[in-house]
Amino acid sequence: MAGVVGRLARRWCSGALSSPLQVTRFPTLQLHLCGPAMTASQKDFENAMNQVKLLKKDPGNEVKLNLYALYKQATEGPCNVPKPGVLDFINKAKWDAWNALGSLPKDNARQNYVDLVSSLSASSESPSQVTPAADRKQPGGDALVVTSQDGITTITLNRPDKKNALTTQMYHDIMLALEAASKDDSAITVLTGNGDYYCSGNDLTNFTDVPPGAVEEKARSGAVLLRDFVDCFIDFPKPLVAVVNGPAVGISVTILGLFDIVYATDRATFHTPFSHLGQSPEGCSSYTFPKIMGSSKATEMLVFGKKLTAREACTQGLVTEVFPDSTFQKEVWVRLKAYSKLPPNAMRISKQVIRNREKEKLHAINAEESSILQERWLSDECMNAIVNFLSRKAKL
Ligand code: COA
Repeated sequence: MAGVVGRLARRWCSGALSSPLQVTRFPTLQLHLCGPAMTASQKDFENAMNQVKLLKKDPGNEVKLNLYALYKQATEGPCNVPKPGVLDFINKAKWDAWNALGSLPKDNARQNYVDLVSSLSASSESPSQVTPAADRKQPGGDALVVTSQDGITTITLNRPDKKNALTTQMYHDIMLALEAASKDDSAITVLTGNGDYYCSGNDLTNFTDVPPGAVEEKARSGAVLLRDFVDCFIDFPKPLVAVVNGPAVGISVTILGLFDIVYATDRATFHTPFSHLGQSPEGCSSYTFPKIMGSSKATEMLVFGKKLTAREACTQGLVTEVFPDSTFQKEVWVRLKAYSKLPPNAMRISKQVIRNREKEKLHAINAEESSILQERWLSDECMNAIVNFLSRKAKL
């Protein structure tokens, strides 16, 4: 994991520096050299590397050089590579930045890196409306970003180009992230999306590339994955909050019934077009939705695919509160930071008292929904809907 994060950070730095450079001064660095006791842990460092990827604004070449130099110093120690030639401007600037750190100990470099990222993050409004760095557009690269700060672990869907559609890998990664969050020292866990969408549901290309004769097996393994995925939400032990930053489709909507709080921007919509896709409800929505909004409203959504506005979803109890888009991020994070300071054990136990009564039932419903879907995925109705989407004949 650390290696992956490191590679990504390196890519970010070198990628960002491919534009012309104008800077060779490093005031931030010098400020930190004589700072107080150095304490950043490896985990803080990795978190900071993840935060860098979510910065809203480009911090500029000077800061990028500082980040690069501190990263190299923290991971490899003092500059130990030959100086690039004078005409190799970019690599020379990077080398100069690293070399300027002299014999700064690795621990201090790590601390300075964390401090610098923290100051950049503080001036950046929030992680969820970030314009992605160019390298994050690569498929599979950083499709999920996990950060931990102020007692809140945030899992961010990060495929804005694909409206944060969930690939098979992302299902696995979200499960791992939830497992880690259940054990870390955060009080609250948040799921949100980067870009204009919260999530466009299952990535419909998950159904493609199936070799002839393997369709049944693909449907079977898909149902197992779905069941395991939803089980993680049923069993998650801490308060789980959805910060719905834009439209939500399919499974990203159905599992909302398993969250403890759902905050939405007024730009969000909630859409479960299962019949249009020849599919059937999942995420325990066949049970949670009728319970939350009554059976006829649930039927409108789950059977007829009625798309709700954020305000409608709030009136029907699926969404806890709706905020104007212009203040959404600010208001929600202020609120969550306040909640995260409440005694964590009390919050966890209270959540479990509420959830435990229903757990067994939810697991049974999840198993049933997954097995019904396994059949639906093999139906002509479903195949045709996916082919139509992929051949651009149909959009929601
Ligand atoms: N699966 C796979 N790819 C998806 C996707 C999904 N669920 N949702 C969006 N994308 C891709 C699009 O194919 C497009 O890719 P491209 O740029 O390579 O062509 C990209 O994301 C942007 O989407 P686009 O359709 O151009 O944006 P839009 O704003 O016009 O429409 C949606 C957004 C979500 C309404 C539309 O993409 C859609 O209908 N997606 C399918 C949603 C769905 O059926 N989900 C499953 C529910 S169970």
